[in-house]
Amino acid sequence: MKTKNAASVMSAPAHDHTHDHPHGHSHVHGRGDAPVKALSSSAYPHVRMRRLRGMDALRDMVREHHVRVEDLVYPLFVEEDVSERLPIASMPGVFRETEKSLEIAVKNAAAAGLKSIMLFGVSHHKDHTGSDSCDPNGLLARMIDRAKQAAPDMVVIADACFCEYTDHGHCGPLNDKGDVDNDRTVENIAMQSVIAAEAGADIIAPSGMMDGQVAAIRHALDVTGFNHIPIMAYAAKFASVFYGPFRDAAGCALGKSTHKVRTDRKTYQMDPANAREALREAALDEAEGADMLMIKPGMPYLDVLANLRRETRLPLAVYQVSGEYAMMKFAAAAGALNYEQAMMESLLAFKRAGADLILTYGAQDAAGWIKNNT
Ligand code: PBG
Repeated sequence: MKTKNAASVMSAPAHDHTHDHPHGHSHVHGRGDAPVKALSSSAYPHVRMRRLRGMDALRDMVREHHVRVEDLVYPLFVEEDVSERLPIASMPGVFRETEKSLEIAVKNAAAAGLKSIMLFGVSHHKDHTGSDSCDPNGLLARMIDRAKQAAPDMVVIADACFCEYTDHGHCGPLNDKGDVDNDRTVENIAMQSVIAAEAGADIIAPSGMMDGQVAAIRHALDVTGFNHIPIMAYAAKFASVFYGPFRDAAGCALGKSTHKVRTDRKTYQMDPANAREALREAALDEAEGADMLMIKPGMPYLDVLANLRRETRLPLAVYQVSGEYAMMKFAAAAGALNYEQAMMESLLAFKRAGADLILTYGAQDAAGWIKNNT
């Protein structure tokens, strides 16, 4: 044990940890027993990260990422044949709008500065193939038209899928094994996309995870006069438990029908264990003509988002799904989290990981907070 001098005693409390001895054998310093090295120039850090954290204004100046209202896409549910908007129990603060109240919701979104919405139908006309979504007078077409009428400058994204319109809840017609028939679904989704574009959709976002769907939609749009309509591909959509509240909201939970069908979507949505495969999925969608790529869900898949950011130059979107929203809302209701802070921190995490756009049920709330803070 070395003799202590005044300086090392004074600095001792700050150096109360284990040091490697320069000659290879290390020794442990007990409380108050500083190494002689504490006297040298490196006793105090020259680089102090806290220097740039000392003032609000300084922190504002060196902030690397920001969440803008323009980054947010607001998903809305629209139920047909109902007289009033209904709250969704599993998603506090989210409603199933009526076709009429959709207009108010869209106008409110526009007034908050939001640029884009995504629409989900809650159908009362379900069948095996989800044919109502391909009817020019069906719910899908009507709600797109309503939204565009209410706010012509709003970018309306059509979620192209069948699960909200099939009686069995799967994302396309089933084959005799009870599994979704890929190629029939692709034919149908191409048709549905044209219907959505005709109704006024500004972006088509296929979410069914069928192989070849992006190429088929691109072709169908191109030959029907919609070559200007972009495709936002749900490039990597994982078979996630976090979609639970959405399925309640949209009435597309599996296993409720009398058909003998699979009760999960694992034959088309991705295995949550697979990160490399997500990059393959994204590369395929890009090659098939996708204009933007999306990762879904969000928070549990930030690694996938960050990896994809390094692989592609396309704009990237991330979908903060119903379960993520519900977790924050219920935690806040229980007094465990502050909803505003949790939501804003999660949105910032998406920007940091590389997202350009964020689909979130918190969009309307966040737009208000962002406005008030600037
Ligand atoms: C339908 C679709 C789903 C979601 C968006 N589009 C459900 C699913 O794939 O089971 C989930 C959205 C959410 O949970 O917020 N293809």
